[in-house]
Amino acid sequence: MSEEKEMTFYEAIHKASSSITRFPLIPVRGVPLMNYIANNWDSIWAFRPDPSDLLIAAYPKAGTTWTQEIVDLLLHNGDAEACKRAPTPVRSPFLELFCPPPIPSGLDLLEKMDPPRVIKTHLPFQLVPPGFWENKCKSIYVARNAKDNLVSYYYFDLMNQSQPEPGPFGGYIHKFMQGELSWGSWYDHVKGYWLEREKRNILYLFYEDMKENPRREVERIMKYLDLSVSDEVVSQIVELTSFKNMKENPMANYSCVPSLVFDKSISPFMRKGEVGDWKNHFTAEQSKLFDEDYEKQMKDVDIPFRTLI
Ligand code: A3P
Repeated sequence: MSEEKEMTFYEAIHKASSSITRFPLIPVRGVPLMNYIANNWDSIWAFRPDPSDLLIAAYPKAGTTWTQEIVDLLLHNGDAEACKRAPTPVRSPFLELFCPPPIPSGLDLLEKMDPPRVIKTHLPFQLVPPGFWENKCKSIYVARNAKDNLVSYYYFDLMNQSQPEPGPFGGYIHKFMQGELSWGSWYDHVKGYWLEREKRNILYLFYEDMKENPRREVERIMKYLDLSVSDEVVSQIVELTSFKNMKENPMANYSCVPSLVFDKSISPFMRKGEVGDWKNHFTAEQSKLFDEDYEKQMKDVDIPFRTLI
């Protein structure tokens, strides 16, 4: 019997790339999501994780991939080779992602893996399948200050041919403020997990803290996961997950996505990796308008975001 070789993630996306367009968004309980996700919502909502599974949640472009890489290395005691076994979305599937076939959905990939699995999501808290909380799964949330998050998302939407057209930067700021981008409102997203962090035992991280003192944050993640790796291994993980090293690592830099989908001539996935890049993009007027609106949208919480470090 001839054994059929399994298609790699790259090959699957390549095969599907002619059917990849800038997918329209469809609201799911008021949150705009890619049509493929919205059309498969019932099976996503019904997903039952194992209690040993770990959820990594973030608004898009807040540092999800960085956190996934740190976690994978911690789980493999800093073994760089082990963490190059497959690209990020295969090692740590994207829960709600559905794309045209033959690209495997997040659920397809998860079904083939044995727990404990590391599962990525961009869903806001209220859309996370309830099985995660019923099974008391651990979860890490990573948040990034709104302005840098917006700039990063803008470049991502320019280059990712499956995301809605971002349009000019000025108009994009309004879409962000109004929660019209894929996965909805940044404000609701960061608040949703913040308000539930104690009750649900969520480790709430900040991108700016990770940039400021990566070692401290790697150790926080290690403790949260009840792991204990040596100081030397922590140093190694910090080094392996530096922006520069991840940018050069084909298993962490999203080069698994062909250029027809991620147009790297517009922007690389690993773009800048800095705090404060918003200063190069917002005019003084845009910044003022954004800050005024921010005050209103965030007045009910006190989340210690930093736009500069
Ligand atoms: P920029 O566009 O500002 O460079 P996500 O993984 O949630 O999609 O987030 C992507 C953002 O995180 C991008 O931001 C990317 O460069 C940044 N990033 C990824 N790995 C990083 C690392 N090791 N250090 C700093 N930033 C990183």
